[in-house]
Amino acid sequence: MTSQIRSCVRGVGSALPTRVVTNHELAATLDTSDEWIRQRSGITQRYVAGDGETTSTLATAAAAAALKDAGLTAEDIDLIVLGTSTPDFTFPASATQVQANLGITKGVAFDVQAVCSGFVFAVTTADKFLRSGSHKRALVIGAETFSRILDWTDRTTCVLFGDGAGAIVLEAQESDGAFRSTGVIASRLRADGRHRAKLFVDGGPSTTGTVGHLRMEGKEVFRHAVGMVTDVIQGCLDDAGCDAGAIDWFVPHQANRRIIDASADKLGIPREKVVVTVDRHANTSAASIPLALSVAVKDGRIKTGDLVMIEAMGGGFTWGAALIRW
Ligand code: UT7
Repeated sequence: MTSQIRSCVRGVGSALPTRVVTNHELAATLDTSDEWIRQRSGITQRYVAGDGETTSTLATAAAAAALKDAGLTAEDIDLIVLGTSTPDFTFPASATQVQANLGITKGVAFDVQAVCSGFVFAVTTADKFLRSGSHKRALVIGAETFSRILDWTDRTTCVLFGDGAGAIVLEAQESDGAFRSTGVIASRLRADGRHRAKLFVDGGPSTTGTVGHLRMEGKEVFRHAVGMVTDVIQGCLDDAGCDAGAIDWFVPHQANRRIIDASADKLGIPREKVVVTVDRHANTSAASIPLALSVAVKDGRIKTGDLVMIEAMGGGFTWGAALIRW
């Protein structure tokens, strides 16, 4: 065992918009039903941002909650990495708005854009900064307002997504590098831009000059999802020198209950070790994993010392996984 720096979780927090929209409410204006949405996706409701609620306001609230949970203050933070595909503005990065909202004037803040994989990309990015020794404490946030890029007349997409934010505080700590020791143990990121047309937004500053709407070939995304995520999860397990049986909590991206179940089954992870929040939050893209982490820490499931596997796959395609000793 060699002495090294590990990125250790100090706190977790989340924030959701005030307004809840149920499947029944959607079915009142759209050719869909509560039964179809629940059977095909596992979703029963989602949170939708209202006036004054934006990606950066939700991210700020989640970050403040994570700082409080960590027993830290804004002055302790020198790195903010925010995973989002729905920034408040084309620029500046929403991370800089969060930084200003929290009153932080030192260090660096930036967004990473990997759609639903955004939080895994943000954790991995922050981990590399912290392990390099350049930064000490990071706010790692996933925050989205996908309701603002949905085509609310397209039943094949709009019923699946929701808004929210989650955050963790990662701190660089000296570690003996043992498998039992806390911190980010392994991570794997991937991207393959050939899949662009299967999940994309049909507008942007450099093409249409508009924000655009989310477009998705759901069946095609589904077809690729399980193989891609189980591949990077296996990579993390190989790097850590363990097998799936060592995982205490599997906290997948919350896109679809059927994808979550199929991924867990393929890896041999029993259902009672899988954290599922897609039923109440729907797919909140980069926010889904930290929202689920927050739920499972608060209800007492995830405890210090537990081995937690996070994973996600989304537009690009991008996909990734990270193995964290909590
Ligand atoms: O975060 C990563 C990004 N996204 C995902 O991971 C999503 C991946 N994909 C999925 O979750 C699933 O493919 C969906 C939930 C999107 C769809 O489930 P599916 O079992 O693949 O259904 P489908 O697309 O094959 O549609 C079945 C039927 C179609 O009708 P026909 O052609 O069989 O007559 C659709 O038109 O269901 C119809 N349909 C709906 N019916 C009621 C599609 N959307 C709806 C709806 N309500 N909202």
